[in-house]
Amino acid sequence: MAHELVLVLDFGGQYNQLIARRVREHKIYCEVRSYKTPVEEIKALAPKGIIFTGGPDSVYLDSSPRMPKEIFGIGVPILGICYGVQFMTYALGGEVVTAADSSLSEFGKTQTYVDTGSELFKGIEETTVTWMSHNDYIKTLPDGFSAIAHTDKCPYAGIADTKRKFYGVQFHPEVNHTQRGFDILGNFLYNVCGCKGDWTMESYAETAISSIRERVGGGKALLALSGGVDSSVACKLLAKAIGGQLTCIFVDHGLMRKNEGDEVEAAFADSGVNFVRVNAGERFLSKLAGVSEPEKKRKIIGEEFIREFEEEAKKIGRVDYLVQGTIYPDVIESGLGDAAVIKSHHNVGGLPDYVDFKEIIEPLRMLFKDEVRALGTTLGLDERLVWRQPFPGPGLAIRIIGDITPEKVAVLQDADAIFREEIANAGLDRSINQYFAVLTNMRSVGVMGDGRTYDYTLALRGVSTSDFMTADFSRIPYDVLEKVSVRIVNEVKGINRIVYDITSKPPATIEWE
Ligand code: XMP
Repeated sequence: MAHELVLVLDFGGQYNQLIARRVREHKIYCEVRSYKTPVEEIKALAPKGIIFTGGPDSVYLDSSPRMPKEIFGIGVPILGICYGVQFMTYALGGEVVTAADSSLSEFGKTQTYVDTGSELFKGIEETTVTWMSHNDYIKTLPDGFSAIAHTDKCPYAGIADTKRKFYGVQFHPEVNHTQRGFDILGNFLYNVCGCKGDWTMESYAETAISSIRERVGGGKALLALSGGVDSSVACKLLAKAIGGQLTCIFVDHGLMRKNEGDEVEAAFADSGVNFVRVNAGERFLSKLAGVSEPEKKRKIIGEEFIREFEEEAKKIGRVDYLVQGTIYPDVIESGLGDAAVIKSHHNVGGLPDYVDFKEIIEPLRMLFKDEVRALGTTLGLDERLVWRQPFPGPGLAIRIIGDITPEKVAVLQDADAIFREEIANAGLDRSINQYFAVLTNMRSVGVMGDGRTYDYTLALRGVSTSDFMTADFSRIPYDVLEKVSVRIVNEVKGINRIVYDITSKPPATIEWE
């Protein structure tokens, strides 16, 4: 089934992903393309609507991103946002100027007066708050346009040529600071473009399954399953599509969280695919024995992982398809339509060159993270895997400071499980982005019963973050921390002191190693 499609044409704005996400939240499928995409190609996609994003430049600079004027001749409704509306104005014969003094530029929340008779502002209050960020402004409208919104400084905060269905706003409807931004976008999509809203995870799953079947035919596919959200959802989808033609290899390095290896096995062992679990815990631990330097641990684990995977993959022989769990933000961030950069993304994604295959399948390539989760739920994937928090490839090895022993792994698994259980009991498991326990290599004196103890200190860490590049430590309530602390020292032998990490990133990192 063909979906309705809306195209977001990216002029280099910082919110391009956000616009796409908002459109999909309206249940309309949407893709982000570069403004360099040829008009013929855009026409062939038959989009129901087009959105021009903001951009960093002034339309008059030589280096400014511009599209050929033919884009205005294909009969598709267009919404220009910020730079997008300035480009539309400029291209159609209006005048855009740079504010001579700063009094005409607008940044931040701005009172905006809208014409509620316009399709774009139906159901919106006459006075509403929008988020502005512009130096340039529209001085003269192109023929056919009229103003549909203004602010105290800006006469053309919203413009429209209703005949040709061209709309533009100087503010950013996609950000939350714009009070009714979501509804304004919805008005464009539903009232102006005439979308119906046919993008649901059920329909995506259906389409994806049939197109994978068609592509793979009777071929063989291979997937490296880590147990993370992306590879688990990809596996579930492929299981439904091609069942036994897929082999997924799960290398269990023995450094997963408590019971996690078994949970992954339980979720996939009976799913109809060839599920291979490589229990390599002992081999990993023997390679890691006596190693305490973090980067060395990572390197050993990375190499051993490849070795184990390769050994299993060899048993299958040549496969036709390698499945990867790439998701849409990776695709957008690696540069739209820029072949050179996209290649480096594959490299970053660790395209294994040690497996002999013909083609790559990336079934989640067009999905945002929250959509990947929704798809997982639709496919009936175990909720623990759907909502799994990020977990580093090297696992608990980088959460045990100093050398790693089987005893320390067991102690940390038990302590970490209690922490996770209590966070879930407190209803915080979906709001804290990442939380875990770290076994430090410091021991200190304590007292238990009548006796002196000399045991390890455990550190608890919880962070809130949107991109994992920066992070703030989570303000976990003291009574929750107290429960965790009391339970761990009572239930886990070998720990007599617990501290909570109150550093943010930077200067600290999220992991301790
Ligand atoms: P840091 O510690 O750098 O972590 O603030 C940022 C995010 O990356 C994860 N992380 C890793 N993931 N292999 C991985 O697959 C690694 O070696 C690794 N080190 C850190 C970390 O859990 C956090 O989500």
